[in-house]
Amino acid sequence: MHSPAASADRVPLLRGVALAAHTTLKIGGPAEFFYAPQRPEDLAALLTRLESAGTPCRLLGGGANTLAPDGGVWGAVVHTGALRGLFREGNRLRAWPGVTLPQLVRAACDAGLGGVEKLIGVPGQIGGALAMNAGSSEWGIWDAVEEVTLWEPGGGMRAFRPEEIGPRYRDGNLRGRVVLECALRLRPEEPAALKARQDEFLRRKNATQPVTLSSAGCAFKNPPGDSAGRLVDAAGMKGAREGGAKISPLHANFIVNCGGASAADVRALATRAEEAVAARFGVRLERELVLWPEPARPVSL
Ligand code: EPU
Repeated sequence: MHSPAASADRVPLLRGVALAAHTTLKIGGPAEFFYAPQRPEDLAALLTRLESAGTPCRLLGGGANTLAPDGGVWGAVVHTGALRGLFREGNRLRAWPGVTLPQLVRAACDAGLGGVEKLIGVPGQIGGALAMNAGSSEWGIWDAVEEVTLWEPGGGMRAFRPEEIGPRYRDGNLRGRVVLECALRLRPEEPAALKARQDEFLRRKNATQPVTLSSAGCAFKNPPGDSAGRLVDAAGMKGAREGGAKISPLHANFIVNCGGASAADVRALATRAEEAVAARFGVRLERELVLWPEPARPVSL
């Protein structure tokens, strides 16, 4: 077993990595320090070291729900996308946080294991999906979790059952804890039946969502009993633009980057949509898109 210090030292430090290359909106300035650990133990050791050093630190998975600031990020961005281990153990899949959701769904289908096919066509990776409880309006990835191993501020690391975490709709309730690994409890099924179900979910998604364009998925959470997309649409915001950002004419809960959009464009458009829905329906939308704050002065190295 390697010492924690040695594990942290194994993670190369990169400087000035453009966050636009790591977010699905393709937006974001440079990170002062950028790390991409490849093993859970290295991730844990790195987080402990950054915490001890007092270095501000942000976690970035597949960047599917993140609006990274135009001015970049001072301090460290820890990218979990290189942690790609995926292991079968009977009817379970054990996964590291950088496994992408398409990889996970394909692997489950190939293994004849059902239970995660609703994640087909959802962008992002397991770490971020657990942080956000990604899924459909009535189902989230936590419904399939048996156990998750988390790093906790203070340097601890332990396994949790879902009921100890208390995930909610589109909120994994991680509260500063970081996913090192998770075990998904699945059920054996005919691969052909699984494939047919996935194809049906994908067909519906392709018909109703702008899946081929750069977006961060749904920008707003659904309010209880309603759909944010329906509300933004009915408030007349479909097709609205700010700079290079546009509210998708296909599904009004998606803000797409038509080319050259800035974080400021997306923030302005999200605010306009919120104001329109509040004015028309008296509903305050809650953001699903996570906005990282702009730095007081842009990162320059
Ligand atoms: N609708 C409109 N106009 C629009 C969009 C939707 O009138 O522009 C109507 C639809 O016609 C439908 C209703 O709103 O009657 C609900 O729409 P949809 O079936 O597309 O589902 P949703 O509630 O908008 C949710 C999740 C999606 C997930 C889909 C399918 C949230 C915020 N969204 O969308 O998740 O893909 O169900 O399972 O929970 C995400 O969270 O990033 C996401 C994309």
